[in-house]
Amino acid sequence: MKEFIPKNLPLQQTIETTKVLKKTISANRALAKLNGVAKIIPNQAILINSLVLQEAKDSSAIENIITTHDELYLASVDMSNVSNEAKEVHHYSKALLMGFDLVKNNQLLLKKYIVAMQEELEQNDAGVRKQSGTNLKNAQTGEVIFTPPQEYETIQNLLDNLEKYINEPNENDPLVNMAIIHYQFETIHPFYDGNGRTGRIINILYLILKELLDIPILYLSRYIIKNKSDYYRLLQEVRTKDSLEEWILYMLDGVEQTSIETIELIENIYKLMEETASEVKEKLPKMYSKDLIEILFMHPYTKIDFLVERLSITRQTASKYLKELEELKIMKSIQIKNSKYFINTQLFAMLQKGI
Ligand SMILES: Nc1ncnc2c1ncn2[C@@H]1O[C@H](COP(=O)(O)OP(=O)(O)OP(=O)(O)O)[C@@H](O)[C@H]1O
Ligand SMILES: [Mg+2]
Repeated sequence: MKEFIPKNLPLQQTIETTKVLKKTISANRALAKLNGVAKIIPNQAILINSLVLQEAKDSSAIENIITTHDELYLASVDMSNVSNEAKEVHHYSKALLMGFDLVKNNQLLLKKYIVAMQEELEQNDAGVRKQSGTNLKNAQTGEVIFTPPQEYETIQNLLDNLEKYINEPNENDPLVNMAIIHYQFETIHPFYDGNGRTGRIINILYLILKELLDIPILYLSRYIIKNKSDYYRLLQEVRTKDSLEEWILYMLDGVEQTSIETIELIENIYKLMEETASEVKEKLPKMYSKDLIEILFMHPYTKIDFLVERLSITRQTASKYLKELEELKIMKSIQIKNSKYFINTQLFAMLQKGI
């Protein structure tokens, strides 16, 4: 099959149709509300940590790397007792957080950051494809859907063009740009593997770059899993039918729906934090501190060590605290091999459900 080489950006066709413009308004409104609501959580690391794991799980599931919530949270506190899948999912969240730091600190989203993230994700240094032969196949039938650019130089030129488009201002709404960038990146398909996941990380980092979000909390992977056949079909129809409008509307709808769901999740986490704080204050007043409550929410799974470090208390005191919290049914302990972990059960349930 002949290779398909995407056009350089910016695209020359009309992008912001009336339908698209209308949808950008509601999607932007929902996203702006999400960015505001996130600030009710006192320590932003709490949200970054828990939501990035959620996203890592969902985005990896699109690639059929399946892990459970138990393993996922366990991997985030201790990699020694988990499966290879959970480790792979953990690499996704590391790649994303690395990208977030780079974008935040440099106010740029460069090609070299994208390569670095993909290498972190895949744990190899293959980088941009040098050998031809990569095809996109239908997972069920094995039929070739399309053949991305094959030449190293073509790929590099397209990536340079994309880098410019990402970092230089243009007239389109940033959410529309995000959809265009995702299409372009998936079509260049610059790596041997991990293009889908790297492309989904770029989405969130682009929103940070354009200052629509202060921290990475809008993740489209859950929406994409729910609408996975549309995801592939609409991406492919931009290639075969030039039908950009439908693809953009799909992504804008993802932003809107996901923002609304994430707002609800954050409000629920906030309520739970407040309730937990009041209960501890009332029933275990000597133990209560703001920092303690934050640790219990920082990781759905926690360890004695975390309390020791963060609260500067002895192991003995930390373990007494966790035992008393277990008696109140705020935490639940589990033993895995030689290690003991404590689960914030209600937070766990909330994140598992997603709202
Ligand atoms: N049937 C298809 N139709 C259109 N595009 C496809 C199809 N299959 C894969 N793709 C594109 O290729 C990407 C997957 O590429 P690759 O396997 O390198 O990435 P990944 O991160 O390992 O996979 P995934 O996106 O499944 O998580 C998809 O995200 C999509 O953009
Ligand atoms: Mg793959």
